[in-house]
Amino acid sequence: AKKAVLGPLVGAVDQGTSSTRFLVFNSKTAELLSHHQVEIKQEFPREGWVEQDPKEILMSVYECIEKTCEKLEQLNIDISNIKAIGVSNQRETTVVWDKITGEPLYNAVAAPVSPGPSDPVAVVPSGSSVPAAGPSSVWLDLRTQTTVENLTKRMPGNNFIKSKTGLPLSTYFSAVKVRWLLDNVKKVQRAVEEDRALFGTIDSWLIWCLTGGINGGVHCTDVTNASRTMLFNIHSLEWDKELCEFFEIPMKILPNVRSSSEIYGLMKAGALEGVPISGCLGDQSAALVGQMCFRDGQAKNTYGTGCFLLCNTGRKCVFSEHGLLTTVAYKLGRDKPVYYALEGSVAIAGAVIRWLRDNLGIINSSDEIEKLAKEVGTSYGCYFVPAFSGLYAPYWEPSARGIICGLTQFTNKCHIAFAALEAVCFQTREILDAMNRDCGIPLSHLQVDGGMTSNKILMQLQADILYIPVVKPSMPETTALGAAMAAGAAEGVGVWSLEPDDLSAVTVERFEPQINAEESEIRFSTWKKAVMKSMGWVT
Ligand code: G3P
Repeated sequence: AKKAVLGPLVGAVDQGTSSTRFLVFNSKTAELLSHHQVEIKQEFPREGWVEQDPKEILMSVYECIEKTCEKLEQLNIDISNIKAIGVSNQRETTVVWDKITGEPLYNAVAAPVSPGPSDPVAVVPSGSSVPAAGPSSVWLDLRTQTTVENLTKRMPGNNFIKSKTGLPLSTYFSAVKVRWLLDNVKKVQRAVEEDRALFGTIDSWLIWCLTGGINGGVHCTDVTNASRTMLFNIHSLEWDKELCEFFEIPMKILPNVRSSSEIYGLMKAGALEGVPISGCLGDQSAALVGQMCFRDGQAKNTYGTGCFLLCNTGRKCVFSEHGLLTTVAYKLGRDKPVYYALEGSVAIAGAVIRWLRDNLGIINSSDEIEKLAKEVGTSYGCYFVPAFSGLYAPYWEPSARGIICGLTQFTNKCHIAFAALEAVCFQTREILDAMNRDCGIPLSHLQVDGGMTSNKILMQLQADILYIPVVKPSMPETTALGAAMAAGAAEGVGVWSLEPDDLSAVTVERFEPQINAEESEIRFSTWKKAVMKSMGWVT
């Protein structure tokens, strides 16, 4: 059959904590043409530890690219129209690998994967380097709590890290994870001594592998991902020597920091061999771009494994007085200015649904939660604080642990399901309140995206609890869209225009508050009581 003639296409890797996706967009219309998704395993080898296998992540990317290309061919769309690829990724998750063998250097815990014929490995293009299995330390991992306590004691002044990075000293960010690896994993220590070690967040790991790995892979990251390591100075946009000295992390293992939109290298193998990788953004920055939040004061909230509300503060670094982070929003080109954002980070959002599925078994698939919650339409006084990894913004309280409270003999799994959804909304309300206090001008509505936004009960609850309208784009894949936009707009690619006038108007679905303000406040203040009870469980 004759192949459909389309404008230039752009692909995007969306590597999240729970799944990997590859999506292909038409650069002229931003229409999503095809995609493929693979769920990613998370290992919990000990209480508080969260690990993933960097090799599985890499395989999932190859699998998604190959499968999406097959789907495009079935639609008679010529994949040679794909002119660029963008990468967006879960941030902070830390990988240290050996640049000579290509192997991740932390092999202690996860069992090696032995690929069978139907395993993702089968689709890895021949000639690409496939490293052995080894876990990466995921952003949610709490093993660095003692490292953080020790570092806190010797910090030269309370503001030392925050003034340079915009971040509080917490288990969340990469620097402490690298420190832990250096302190605890012999292989890492040796590789550093022998000048074989490379560090990267997931973007760096993927770009290095996709551009050739041990055969000339490019070791880089972008400013948004770098700003989550706690080693990056967000004012000078360089690795900070004093911070590297403080964490005792050798600068030679760090990737080159580039803008979020430029050609980093070419795909070395597979269906898209030779296509430039030219966009790179941490997933929350990518969603900000994909939601077209280019103006000062525009904000979006993404419901993924966690929940992340980012507000564009323009070219100013705004420092929060209410527990929010200051972070790099994007820098869309080598010679383009950097934009900053205030961020409210919630550790557990979609992850609570996965927990109900995998640990409690009260649902078989994530979408069943909506049905359960709908059956009762209330939590019947049950409150669920999913502080599995402590509490992030605005509390930054590592001693907190999850609680379900307000139970009676009447409470059933439907009420618990409802309380889990409400928890996501209450946590968002906490960060929205902090954002409004820091910015001075309250948000008039909330732009939302991410997998959970297909849950209509959740969206209605969110509008009720925030007491402002919640606005959802009809194409919810804004994270991938942002990465594709950055890739398509890069110098030397030039198939996507980022001029505001050229950005097509997005159609949206709106959810208006339906309860009265007083009821909304009562529910929120009871939630706060529950949060207080979740704190101090770990001493
Ligand atoms: O900071 C962590 C964040 O980037 C993870 O995103 O979508 O996996 O919740 P997500």
